[in-house]
Amino acid sequence: MPTDEATMRLSDVLPVTNPLREGMKRKRAPEPCTLVIFGVTGDLAKRKLLPAVFGLWQDGQLGAGFSIVGVGRASMTDDEFRALVLEALRTSKETDEIQEGSLELFAAALAYVGGDFDAPGTYDGVRSRLAEVESSRGAGRNAVFYLSTPPSLFETISTGLGESGLSREEDGWRRLIIEKPFGRDLQSALALNDHIHRVWEEHQVYRIDHYLGKETVQNVLAIRFGNLIFEPLWNRSYVEHVQITAAEDLGMEGRGGYYEEAGVVRDMLQNHLLQLFQLVAMEPPVAFDADAIRDEKVKVLRSVRAIPASRAHEVAVRGQYGPGALYGERVRGYREEEKVAPDSSTATFVAVKLEVDNWRWKGVPFFLRSGKRLPKKVTEVAVVFRRPPLGLFPGGLERNVLAFRIQPDEGVSLKFSSKTPGQENVLREVVMDFRYDAFGAELESPYSRLLLDAMLGDATLFPREDEVEHAWRLVSGILEAWQKPDAALPNYAAGTWGPDAADELIGPDRRWRHL
Ligand code: BG6
Repeated sequence: MPTDEATMRLSDVLPVTNPLREGMKRKRAPEPCTLVIFGVTGDLAKRKLLPAVFGLWQDGQLGAGFSIVGVGRASMTDDEFRALVLEALRTSKETDEIQEGSLELFAAALAYVGGDFDAPGTYDGVRSRLAEVESSRGAGRNAVFYLSTPPSLFETISTGLGESGLSREEDGWRRLIIEKPFGRDLQSALALNDHIHRVWEEHQVYRIDHYLGKETVQNVLAIRFGNLIFEPLWNRSYVEHVQITAAEDLGMEGRGGYYEEAGVVRDMLQNHLLQLFQLVAMEPPVAFDADAIRDEKVKVLRSVRAIPASRAHEVAVRGQYGPGALYGERVRGYREEEKVAPDSSTATFVAVKLEVDNWRWKGVPFFLRSGKRLPKKVTEVAVVFRRPPLGLFPGGLERNVLAFRIQPDEGVSLKFSSKTPGQENVLREVVMDFRYDAFGAELESPYSRLLLDAMLGDATLFPREDEVEHAWRLVSGILEAWQKPDAALPNYAAGTWGPDAADELIGPDRRWRHL
């Protein structure tokens, strides 16, 4: 069935009521397909994935035959599963406004298979449900398998899909989406990639880093390469340094067990922060396509000066929050969080200085920082320019800053000096500000964007195998150095901007931005 027709019929039933949203929608709809979600009863699926898929479906972007097969350990009937999904949609903050009657129609697109992920019977069940939705709903023979499970199950499920023939692209496409973390260090990432490639070709694999699905993250490339005025300045002659911050006010929220194993380097630095870094630092791609962009992203990672464990203390600062106050309330320290060891040396804060040894950036440090229980939730990329060579005016030697506000208050601002009104030539810093809300449309959830891209076969916003490996290579020395317990932890109070050593890292003549 032609996809456009399918989409049109669906939107007859579900008229799109938000014309602004309509303007942001893709022109192309994916070919009819089925989304198979392993771990469908888990937290990520309920809070993020299902609302994102529902939003796409309700907007008529997925076509009439689109179906979901949920897979989980629990045994459940289809009706019980549908009730669970509808409840998740009604309660998730991420769900779009629900149009009348649409939940019931969506429920008809849902089927469930229960079973252990290491039992071949589970995959037989998936195969027969797929065949069923293909014939009963016209879903087509295309399928995306989403592994929304703990990483320890990735290999088991990938193998199960391979052995049951579900990964074979015979008369339709088959794709695999996996969630970060992709491994827990270089060795395990290499092993995971190897394992996955026993079953899947790289073009079938989509690794999700949800930061790449954020509208404002994509805008870094759009602003750099869609304008002429920035790129000539984007180099060592004009840029003094770059700061990338991903601050979070939240603590563990019940994730202490996971976080004890991960820590901030695996949780944020190896993936989200390095992704932001790559987009700011990469060379212009030869085309705006998946391979051209990812080639450049890999190249810039390869240009970063290696950080062996012996040098980690010079370029990386670790922190862990102790008890403190946030928004006027007392909050406990990391070591008092549930499922966290009372003498844990897991880092909840990292600041790192990256030196890029290539023609564009030699001598320009990139400072990256991220932490839990900082004073607020804010993500920003700031390009800080050199000072003017000569101070002709009083107060006129400030550094210009181009800042991408990734979240919240999404936008871009440029700080520069201007004459203050009056007879004297006195300068003061002013800010020119672009805010995304000027477009008058809500921003799409990163998961909607990425899921749709995977269904469309567009891998541009998904880290490639070699990218993931280089990112692990880069942080390996830090992880190794930090294996040793640090007696000085905790070293920042919850509700503050991290340990003092982070200020020393950025140097006496620079300051972290007040966000
Ligand atoms: C996740 C991390 O990948 O990203 C979390 O596991 C973190 O610890 C989250 O809170 C941050 O994402 P966002 O989109 O809220 O900035």
